[in-house]
Amino acid sequence: MARCGKFVTRLLRKEPARSCNLKFCARRCATLCSKSILKKERRVAARSMTTGIEDPYLRHLFDGDTALNVYSKNVVNLSVGAPGPDLLKHCSSLLAKATKHRLEEEDKEDKYYLFQYGITAGLWECREELAKFLTRRYGDPVARENLILTCGATHGIQLILTSVIAPDGVIFVDEVTYMIALDTFKQFPLIRVISVPMKNDIVDLDAFEQLIKIEKNTKYTVGKEKIFWAMYYTVPIFHNPTGMSISPEMSKRLVKMARENSFAVICDDVYNLLHYEDKYPPHRLFNYDDPNNPDYTGGNIISNGSFSKILSPAIRVGWIECGSKVAKILKGSGILKSGGAVNHYVSGLIASLLHLKLEDEYLDKLIKIYKERMNTLCDTLDKNLPANCSYRHPEGGYFVWIKLPEGLDTIPFMKWCQEVHKVMAIPGARFSNHGESKNCIRVSIAFHSAETIRDASIVLCKAITEYMKKISGKN
Ligand SMILES: Cc1ncc(COP(=O)(O)O)c(C=O)c1O
Repeated sequence: MARCGKFVTRLLRKEPARSCNLKFCARRCATLCSKSILKKERRVAARSMTTGIEDPYLRHLFDGDTALNVYSKNVVNLSVGAPGPDLLKHCSSLLAKATKHRLEEEDKEDKYYLFQYGITAGLWECREELAKFLTRRYGDPVARENLILTCGATHGIQLILTSVIAPDGVIFVDEVTYMIALDTFKQFPLIRVISVPMKNDIVDLDAFEQLIKIEKNTKYTVGKEKIFWAMYYTVPIFHNPTGMSISPEMSKRLVKMARENSFAVICDDVYNLLHYEDKYPPHRLFNYDDPNNPDYTGGNIISNGSFSKILSPAIRVGWIECGSKVAKILKGSGILKSGGAVNHYVSGLIASLLHLKLEDEYLDKLIKIYKERMNTLCDTLDKNLPANCSYRHPEGGYFVWIKLPEGLDTIPFMKWCQEVHKVMAIPGARFSNHGESKNCIRVSIAFHSAETIRDASIVLCKAITEYMKKISGKN
């Protein structure tokens, strides 16, 4: 949990915590006055005083940041794309059953390979079970040989970027995209990040084609392993942040463009399995890169999946699904070879979870819950969103992208809304490479119950109305 600076100072001075004059902090201090916690925090605070490295006692990724702290009791935070405790609590029994099964299997075999370095592509049994699971949940065939296990989609992006893309190449991104992927790309200063315009909240392929024509003519350091001069990073199904999906026609065209122009498409397929309308989700782009096509070039499309959104973000297991050309290079990567796959032990638990069909049961439950949350949010927006604002109802995933009138900057609006109305979501500019889409906000259904989402979104709509009046001077 986050601590104010005064609290830490008092800990160091060994003053009673309740003397803190911050109301919030005093309440927390009173309830947390157990000696062991105070001792631990005092140790942590003292250590950071000597090393000069700030390392406050934080409990989760969103802790210590008022704009993101989804556990805050003071503000309903609709920012974060992660499940809440009401869902995560199921992980205890799921993993207990999977662990029991896996360890019994290890005892039976009496070799204990699960505790040994693994094979580079990741535990065979896990990839086998994953291929079967994805085949039944996508409704499209998935082959074990095409799968490489990762520590989640973030690791997948980093692995692809460092393995097969020219170090001085180009990354095309949608005009608005997953904001932390943008942060990741900025850490590769030789690579140029170029925004592609969007139409109806999905990529505008005509505009993209023009950009490719221009950029393709530069000389890039492509070679035996860095086989692509460019990659296009996207979230084609239930996009983050817009919630929209690419159509089959556009998918076919995009695959053709990638083949003809020798670039890779990295699809963050992390939301595909959270689909709320049809029996199966929209086909992933990888499905269209068919090896039987005469113009197939060994695989230009890479599907980057994860258990973060369908089980738990802490599990840190994901997968890359790719063709032979990319698979060969990734399997040669030092991090996979030297590490003996990543997350080998947890992959064993996932193998059992999938084998016992526990993940299927849980995913069915998640889909029902998230569908209700998504419908609740959209119904509320239909009834309460001012007429000059708009949104599209996503058929899956976590996010709704709300457009306020052009010219309205949602950064000050959200700050004001958080302070005055105690509701928070993420301003659109955070998702844009150039800080555009200022008039948009992203609302997440991942963390809170349907009831909380309904109440908070009513408040959000009222706040939008009030703010528009306020800035137009009519108040
Ligand atoms: C599009 C997208 N990719 C990747 C991630 C992170 O996935 P992982 O936890 O598997 O690294 C997220 C999480 O919000 C996401 O929205």
